[in-house]
Amino acid sequence: MDTSVLKVSNITKQIKKKQIIKEVNFDIKQGEILGFLGPNGSGKTTTLRMLVGLSKPTSGDIKICGYSIKKEYVKAMSNVGCIIEGPDLYDYMSGYKNLEMLGSMSKGVTKKDIDDAVELVGMGNRIHDKVEVYSMGMKQRIGLAQALIHKPKLLILDEPTNGLDPQGIHEFREIVKNLARDKDISVLISSHLISEVQLMCDRVSIINNGSIIRNASIDDLLSTGEVIWTLDDPKKAQEILKNKFNIASSIEAQNLNALVDVEMLAEINKTLFNLGFEIKYVENKKRTLEDLFLALTGKNKI
Ligand SMILES: Nc1ncnc2c1ncn2[C@@H]1O[C@H](COP(=O)(O)OP(=O)(O)O)[C@@H](O)[C@H]1O
Ligand SMILES: [Mg+2]
Repeated sequence: MDTSVLKVSNITKQIKKKQIIKEVNFDIKQGEILGFLGPNGSGKTTTLRMLVGLSKPTSGDIKICGYSIKKEYVKAMSNVGCIIEGPDLYDYMSGYKNLEMLGSMSKGVTKKDIDDAVELVGMGNRIHDKVEVYSMGMKQRIGLAQALIHKPKLLILDEPTNGLDPQGIHEFREIVKNLARDKDISVLISSHLISEVQLMCDRVSIINNGSIIRNASIDDLLSTGEVIWTLDDPKKAQEILKNKFNIASSIEAQNLNALVDVEMLAEINKTLFNLGFEIKYVENKKRTLEDLFLALTGKNKI
């Protein structure tokens, strides 16, 4: 059985003869945070608008909790909460009144649902102040509460930290992580900021020019396969790597560097240890997400 909370299959979007989204595929499992990373103009908002029913794909299908948005639109949408074009709030009302008003327009939302949403976003007593005195971060929390009011399984957030200060970004990130961890909500969060995706997400889909160019876990994306040993006799260790394992290596700043299949690593380390090497550190060299992103999307396009 397919356990994906969101499954996007081959969606395309054509606007005025221009193919803006090209055969996009990805999925999200329960409780997972997926980063949707791409430079400005790459097609993030266009894709997310289709996922929340604001526009129709030209072809392909989207399933939310198993419901196709083509065939069972209402059921599919009942499982999604979103912030797409920033939260829509009445400034002259309190955050709470805004939520009550939204609740009164949706079927089956109780006072408890509203209170639960308020608690999840941690607004405390400030929820009864007028929106006009809120910081950007507080408005964004109300937006999040709006998205959560009908207890969705999937949250879709389009560049939600744009315009927030560092403190606000940090707080927002913690709230989103808690939602995924404690409430098992799946989150799709778009961003053009590599660092943000790295700090918040389990996996990342990278989009460029309307195509997905990579779907991977953050760990896999960043692993280079390069291992660095800090040990007492790098020269001798280099010979062992060559003679026993047929692995070429280099010595940089007294460290031994080699491209190693992860499967082999335990055996190599055991051998070095048994031969009496004093191993201080073994490090799996990571590339930065920034290097990778620039390499994949082309430096000039950012
Ligand atoms: N309604 C539209 N008509 C024509 N072009 C559009 C429309 N909406 C988006 N685009 C184009 O589609 C591309 C992707 O835009 P968008 O999805 O907003 O990117 P992102 O959110 O990643 O910055 C851009 O080149 C944009 O100009
Ligand atoms: Mg956008």
